[in-house]
Amino acid sequence: MQPIFAPYPQSRFRRTRRTGAIRALTRENTLTTDDLIWPVFIRDGSGLREPVASMPGVARLSVDLVVEAAAEAAALGIPAICLFPYTDPALKTADCREAWNPENLANRAIRAIKAQVPDIAVMTDVALDPYNAHGHDGLVVDGVIQNDETIEALVKMTLAQADAGADILGPSDMMDGRIGAMRSALEGAGHKDVAILSYAAKYASAFYGPFRDAVGATGALKGDKKTYQMDPANSDEALRLVARDLAEGADMVMVKPGMPYLDICRRVKDAFGAPTFAYQVSGEYAMIKGAALNGWIDGERAMLESLMAFKRAGCDGILTYFAPDVARVLRAG
Ligand code: PBG
Repeated sequence: MQPIFAPYPQSRFRRTRRTGAIRALTRENTLTTDDLIWPVFIRDGSGLREPVASMPGVARLSVDLVVEAAAEAAALGIPAICLFPYTDPALKTADCREAWNPENLANRAIRAIKAQVPDIAVMTDVALDPYNAHGHDGLVVDGVIQNDETIEALVKMTLAQADAGADILGPSDMMDGRIGAMRSALEGAGHKDVAILSYAAKYASAFYGPFRDAVGATGALKGDKKTYQMDPANSDEALRLVARDLAEGADMVMVKPGMPYLDICRRVKDAFGAPTFAYQVSGEYAMIKGAALNGWIDGERAMLESLMAFKRAGCDGILTYFAPDVARVLRAG
């Protein structure tokens, strides 16, 4: 006997999941190599590849090897590489003057990459923590981070990086007013086309631990970064910071860390429609890699799923240590 009412279930979402072809047709988001910025750690010397213990698969590379890595990334279709220097402790000073030395490690690496792999975009880190012994992103007087004096130093760093040929500057320092100061200095120096990707919503996070190991800052940090990085409890503040940085001349904005802050990514994208990036930071990489190496999760699937989540959250791209790995997987189809 036929039922009088339409039979349940009245809708069958499983129809659009039935085959790979139909799933592909109805898929809402895609991850491509165009979405990737690859953060790399650089060190002095030549022919050196020094593994970072807390980030399996990641190494500090000397400039000659980072040029090779950039060439490999470009061949894989990765649009940008982001440089983080491991500074010789002998070069770390209270005034951080190595930060704007035109011949410092980061500036030499920028020049070498732009000379040999001109098509890859080179992004930099604008912050003072690699250049002092206390590990803070700003200048410190009597234990207090000095906002405005730090900006003067960051502006000198900005101009040295732009002179070296950087395409995208990444201020990760979280001082107030640095975007406006950097933008007007760039305009004044004729670097009007150098882009700024502001670390606009950067949280005081436990997930940066392995990074500090990679840049040789583990154990060095006196206190914490809570007076300049955001409180993980805050969300509206992120929107105010993004609005401020865009108004001061940022071209693109970033949310950092990534996976625990996907709600912030979505709010930022919806509110501003600006190019929005997330940084899947060292601790996020270490969690996935560590679990995979223990056989507790499928590393490749977890990598792909974590990166797709950023696309679903509205991001235009992701800074991720997985960049070459995921590019190889995407290429293999
Ligand atoms: C510091 C900086 C940090 C990261 C990028 N730039 C660490 C910090 O703020 O203490 C972290 C990146 C990562 O964990 O992958 N300017």
